[in-house]
This record gives sequence, structure tokens and C-alpha cells, in this order.
Amino acid sequence: MLKKTALRTTAGVVSSAMVTAFALSQLGCSTSAGAPSPEAGAGTPDGASAYVGDGAPIEGDGGGAAANGGDAANGGGGEGGADGGSPAAAVNTSDGARTTTVNFDSTWKFHLGDVTNAQNPTFDDSSWSTLDVPHDWSISQPFQQNSPAGSGGGYLGGGVGWYRKTFPLPASSSGQRVLVQFDGAYMDSTVYMNGTQICARPYGFISYECDFTPSAKFGAPNVLAVRLNNQQPSSRWYSGSGIFRHTWLKTVNPLRVAYTGTHVSTPQVSATGATVNVSVTLQNDGAAAQSASVASSILDNTGAQVGQGSAQAIMVDAATTSTPGTATATQTITVPNPKLWSLSSPTLYSMVTTVTVAGTVVDTYTTPFGIRTFAFDANGGFTLNGQSVKLNGTCNHNDLGALGAAVNYRAIEKRLQMLKDMGANALRTSHNPPAPEFLDIADRLGFLVMDEAFDCWDQGKNTYDYGRFFNQWGTTDIGAMVMRDRNHPSIIIWSIGNEIPDDNNATVAQSLISAVEAKDATRVIGQAFAGASPGAAVAPLEGVVGLNYAPYVYDSLHSSHPTWKFFASESSSAVRSRGIYELPVTSNILTSSTNQCSSYDNSVVSWGTSAEGSWQAVNTRNFIAGEFIWTGFDYIGEPTPYGWPSKSSYFGAIDTAGFPKDIYYFYQSRWNHDGPTMVHITPMDWTSWTAGQSVPVYVYSNADSVELFLNGTSLGSKNVDAKAADSNSAHLAWSVAFASGTLEARATKNGAVVVTDTVQTAGSAAGVALKVDRAAIAADGLDLAYVEADIVDAKGVLAPRASNEIAFSVTGPGALVGVDNGDSTNHEPYKGTTHAAFSGKAMAIIQSTTTAGKVTVRATSMGLAAGSVDIVTGGP
Ligand code: GAL
Repeated sequence: MLKKTALRTTAGVVSSAMVTAFALSQLGCSTSAGAPSPEAGAGTPDGASAYVGDGAPIEGDGGGAAANGGDAANGGGGEGGADGGSPAAAVNTSDGARTTTVNFDSTWKFHLGDVTNAQNPTFDDSSWSTLDVPHDWSISQPFQQNSPAGSGGGYLGGGVGWYRKTFPLPASSSGQRVLVQFDGAYMDSTVYMNGTQICARPYGFISYECDFTPSAKFGAPNVLAVRLNNQQPSSRWYSGSGIFRHTWLKTVNPLRVAYTGTHVSTPQVSATGATVNVSVTLQNDGAAAQSASVASSILDNTGAQVGQGSAQAIMVDAATTSTPGTATATQTITVPNPKLWSLSSPTLYSMVTTVTVAGTVVDTYTTPFGIRTFAFDANGGFTLNGQSVKLNGTCNHNDLGALGAAVNYRAIEKRLQMLKDMGANALRTSHNPPAPEFLDIADRLGFLVMDEAFDCWDQGKNTYDYGRFFNQWGTTDIGAMVMRDRNHPSIIIWSIGNEIPDDNNATVAQSLISAVEAKDATRVIGQAFAGASPGAAVAPLEGVVGLNYAPYVYDSLHSSHPTWKFFASESSSAVRSRGIYELPVTSNILTSSTNQCSSYDNSVVSWGTSAEGSWQAVNTRNFIAGEFIWTGFDYIGEPTPYGWPSKSSYFGAIDTAGFPKDIYYFYQSRWNHDGPTMVHITPMDWTSWTAGQSVPVYVYSNADSVELFLNGTSLGSKNVDAKAADSNSAHLAWSVAFASGTLEARATKNGAVVVTDTVQTAGSAAGVALKVDRAAIAADGLDLAYVEADIVDAKGVLAPRASNEIAFSVTGPGALVGVDNGDSTNHEPYKGTTHAAFSGKAMAIIQSTTTAGKVTVRATSMGLAAGSVDIVTGGP
């Protein structure tokens, strides 16, 4: 391994490659700073903490010199995961994999606004825009104070939108069934094929399939039209609008595995063998009953067959005019010496189902699954494969920052990898069924998931939200969610709702519980109750009891309900802005005139608790299975504690642009206590203070002790309390009289300094330095490279309060698809080409095209030296 050097500056790392790029760009040269960055891959987002200042290689080296420039901290480590790699190219993860399913995302026509007769095949859509889905029309709208979406929706517009797609169907498909699958279309969709309505589905977060065979034209063009109505306000957070997930065209035999028709479970697991049950529901749309044979085989993660069920013959009824015939085959297969799915080794298997009629294979359908056991205990909390695990979870809304709600596999993967590196082991899909890719990645990276159906039942929280549709659709939608998601080993909890206004309505709760159990009885069912009083009529019906923001009643609830299995479904709701610090740290400073929040964990909403306080309350009680902090990432909308001009949330450990805030490192030091040794100095700004001012310095570390140095003089050493049961001792604290220069924290483990962190005083801004998370990405038209732009002084030190405007340009086979800086008050478009820095940084997201080549990203800012970075696209 090469020796690695990293210069830790006030708010991040300036890589040696980056400094070179900056220095050369000052001379008018451009260079590839995107070569595999040695600083990447160190297991922390800024990559700094695993390297000592003198460059000696030490523990925690995450292999940043991977051939693809893989940045483990930024998600590159996810490549080549348990299932053999990330399917960056779209793969249907909602329904089982089939060779006859094709991606249907390209070349749609789109029109924002309602149009009469747009479902008619002859309608002239030539003036409409042409685009690929997933697509979110709201993210391109301007922020407007009077937007009907309000602060919850981030002041971005919704409305009615139409999509149309013209496509041929081969004559050879005649006699087959043809179906289109939407992984999610927000919201209130009506779907037409060749002028005939084929589907309607109000819930925008649900995946569904439409059979359009009766309206299909084989050997001729067909016209699919979709009308969406996202009347505002429809959500308490930014939902996005549009066909915002993938679409699929399926051509199948009239007799086949039904949509999401397999269910794999593992009722008995031991070191020597796992019993794997599979049920396969067949659907027959043919006019005659059929005798079919169902065979199952299990492949391990190398593709080797490790189990097989003998073929089973079943009779499937004929379809009537209104209903298909169905029949279910069940098989039990033993897998010897199973490799268990776990958080550190998330091994996946595949169940391959083959359906044969009269000796001819009519369907082959693959279902990924995992083998593991889990349990909740009213006193002992959660266990996975018999091992105690505290749920260190984050709540997650659906947007992807500047990409809006349009699903992108790599964007989700990068986010989840950052959370994994923070020490998170659990995810809550607040407050809706996620994109299917989210669960696929959770399986691959090793997360436990609370899969949530609703934010309301029939009593809505917004005028035009799902509450309007719940009575008609609630049990159908939750059943569809469970069927789609039940084979993911990551899922442990089905959540029937969040802070439901009528949460003690046992009739509704029981109908949802029954709808879930009809599809899967292998997970626990719960909901997130608001505050201190979980519904007395409903909580006993549920396997686990989720508490939102109620640490002060943990003990009393446990003693009054000793058999209830509690967890903190939502915790903390502390707010912070990256790089912003308000004093004194001993006061809760919720708001300021700048519409920013303080990063000393001293900015907490009235119903919340500091990050340390929430963690401490959970960590000191075995009977609380864990917590899901609000939130992992900032999201668009709900800019509590502010309204306009703030447009995105402050709750995240990571901002919308993907930059970690200080609290990220608090979680890393506690949640990932046994992970790579790390140390982090708060504040990430050693510039904006006055000489002699007393500056509170917090250090987060999982080492044995940390010694702090100011300009080489020791300010003393402090021991890290591994348990830190006191809510104020989970960080080390110094009060330092400010002097410009370098503040350094040296962390010691087993008697040796293993990792350091430094913050330095910056001079005037002199240039824009670029670095990219991965220097090589796939030329598949989907993959992403995240280019970080730092405003730096002449020595490459980050200017921690810089807000210079940066213009990005891209040459070569790549496109700029989003810009952001994480500042809630910024109103520049996410889909623009320029963006101000915030706390010294901005992010540009580059997407590959299907052409391989070299992409050059250039960043200019008035009066500053330009920066540039290269990205290579290509490869498989
Ligand atoms: C909770 C709610 C979340 C979010 C959060 C903000 O009560 O469930 O959706 O609004 O408050 O603190």
C-alpha cells in the first residue's frame, strides 16, 4: 500500500491530487484530479480520519486506491457487494427478475398542465418535451413563497402532468400478455393504452402493474398515456411529482408467476442447515385451466446451486371474464451450512422458479432472499442471528437532494453507504413505501429496515394527501407493499403508519394488520406513535411499539407495560446547519436571524432532544431496541424551525448536498464504536473567530484518548469514555482561546497515536478546488459522479464561510444533472449550472451518457483561480 497523505483543513480534506489540480489551474492548466484519490475510501466521508498527519498508513485504510477510484466512504465500497455488484443499470427489483422484462424508461413525452384528450392515440404531442423517466417535474420549478405546496413541500410546485409514450409491440408477442409496471408515479395516476383506461392508482409511493393486453396492438405502434394529479398541498414534506421511479414492459405467458407472487421464508435456521419455504402463486389469464409444474432451485452468491425442490404439479383454473385463475404451490428446501445474512456479511441467495406446462418452460422468475433470524424482546431489545444489536437507525425521506425524487440507483447507494460509514445499521422509510432499489441496496449493504406504509389513514394531515383515498385503498396498498417487499432480508418491521391522528382506532389498525399478515407473517408489525401515549387499544395488537420523541417516559411505560417491545421510531429532531456555530453551547439556540441553526448539538426543537441526549436515553436501556434519528439526510421541505426563505430541512446528520455535518462524527464515534478509529474536531471552522475569544472545542472519537494541540502546544489529553452514559460526556470538550493557526487532535489507541484531525485558519479565498468521489463511472447513462467544489485559500485551505458563486461546465460524454450546497435558504435552482458555496462548499452531480470517454468538469468563480477534474466513463 502506498503511503498516503492528506491535509486536513478547516472543513474537510484537500487531497494532494486536488491541491495539484488547483495549483495547475492557477497556471491555466487543467489536470485529472479524479485519479483514484488516496484520501478516498478511508471509511469516513471526508476520508481524513484514517490517516495520520505524517502520512503513515494506519488502521482503517479502506483501500481507496481501488481501480475504479472507489470511495468506500462515498459509496464506491458498495460495488461488488454481496450479490456481486451494484446494478447501476436499471434492473426490475419490484417484481422477480425475468428475461422478458425490459426497461421502459426512455423517450417519453411530457407536458406540465392538464390537457383535454391527451389519452387519445392520435393526440399531437410533438410540442411536448421529450425525456426519460424517472422524472420529477417539481424539482425544476422555481421556489415561490406563495406556492400551494407551502413550506412542507419546499415551496416547489406540483399540479397536473401528462406523460405519453409511443412504442411498437412485435407481432410475435400476440398471444402473450403484455403489462406495464410503474415502481411509483406521484400521484393519483390514471393510465391509458391506445385511448382506453387500463389502470388508476392514487398512492404515488406504491408500485403497481397494469395488464393492457386487451388494448394492445401487436405488430403496430401503441400509445401509453399517463395523467398524474399532484394537487397541493399533498404531503408534509417534498414528495416530488411525476413518474419518479422506473417503468417496465413485461411480456409474459398467460400462465406465469403472478406479480410479486413468490414468498420465501426461513422458519428454521442453524449452522448446519436452513429450512427455506417458498410459495409460488401462479396466474392464468388463459381461457382454459392448465396443469403446470413448479420447480425451485436455490443459488448461492456465486451462482452455485445449493438446494432444489422437486417439481410440483398444480392445476390452475381458467380465467373468468373478470378474474384470472390462480393457484399456489409451496415447497420446502434445505440449504446446508447456510451463510447467514448479517450486517457485516449480508450474503444473499436467489430462488429460481421455473414453471413448465406440458414440458415447455413458460416462465422463469428469480427472487433474491437472505437467511437470517431476528427477534425483539421486551427486556433485552433486538437480536439478529442470536446476537444482540442496538438499532442505530435513521429516518429517510424519499428525495435525493438536487436530483429531487427521481430515483437513481447510484444516488441511493451513495447515501446509504455514507450512513453505513456513520455507523447506522437501520433505516426507516419515513413515511411511505420506498423505491424498490432502496431495499435492494439495504439488502446488499447490510441494513435493517422498518418499511412504512403511511403518514395518515383516513384523517389526512394535508388537504390533498392520501387521506382522501385511504378508505378505498388502504388495505390494498399495504398488501401490495408487503408483497413487493417481503423477500428482502433487511426488512424486520412493517409499519402501518406514522403519528396517525386516529392512532388508537383498533378497527382500522386491525384491518391493516390483517392485510399485512395475509401476505407475510414473518416480520413484526408496529407503528410510530406520537409522544408519550401509544394507543392503549392498538399497541397490544402490534408486535413492537414505536415511540416518537418520548425518552422521558421510557421507564414508566416499560414498567406499566412490561411485555410491550419498545423502540424509538423517531428521536432527536435536533437541527443544525453545516459549518454554523452559535454560542453559548450551554443554551438551546433554536433560531437566528440568518435562518441557520447551530452545529454544537445545541439547537433542538421543543419536542426533541439533542443527538447525545437521545442516544444516551436509548443506549442505557436494554429494553429500548434502538432509535431511528430524525434524520440521516436533510430533505427538501419542512424547514423547521423556519419558514420562507428556508426551503429544506435542518434535521440531517448530512446536508442535502451530501456533506456531513459535525454531528455525523458524533454518531460515527458512538454507533461505530468498534469501527475504524476516528477523531473529529468541532468546529470545522478555525477562521471566523477573534483573537483570544474562548472557543468551545468538541472532539468526537472512538479512540482511548485524545490530545489537543494549538499551533503545536498541548492543551491537554482527555480519555474517551467508551460507555459515556452521561448525555454530556459522549464528546470531549475544551475551551480554547482562539489564535490563528492549526488546531490538531491526536487520537491514541493502545498507547499509540493512530489518527489525527486538524482545522486550520484560512487566508483569503484564492481558488476553486475540485475533487470527485469516483474518477471512473459506468457509461450507462445512469451512473453518477459527485464533484465537490471547495473555495480555498492560496495554500489550499478551505475558506469555511465562503459563499462565492461558482459556475460549472462539463465537456465530454457527461451531463450536469444537479447542483447544491446544502444551504436551506439558497433559492438557486437545483437544476442550474451555477451555485453559491455554503460554508465553503458546493456539489455538482455529473451523470454519464451511454458513450464512453473522458468528461471534464470545470468550475469558475469571479476573481478566483478555476478548478477542473476529469472523470472517465466506460467499462461494464
Ligand atoms: C415528527 C414527524 C416527522 C417530522 C418530525 C420533525 O413528529 O413524524 O415526519 O415532521 O416530527 O421533527
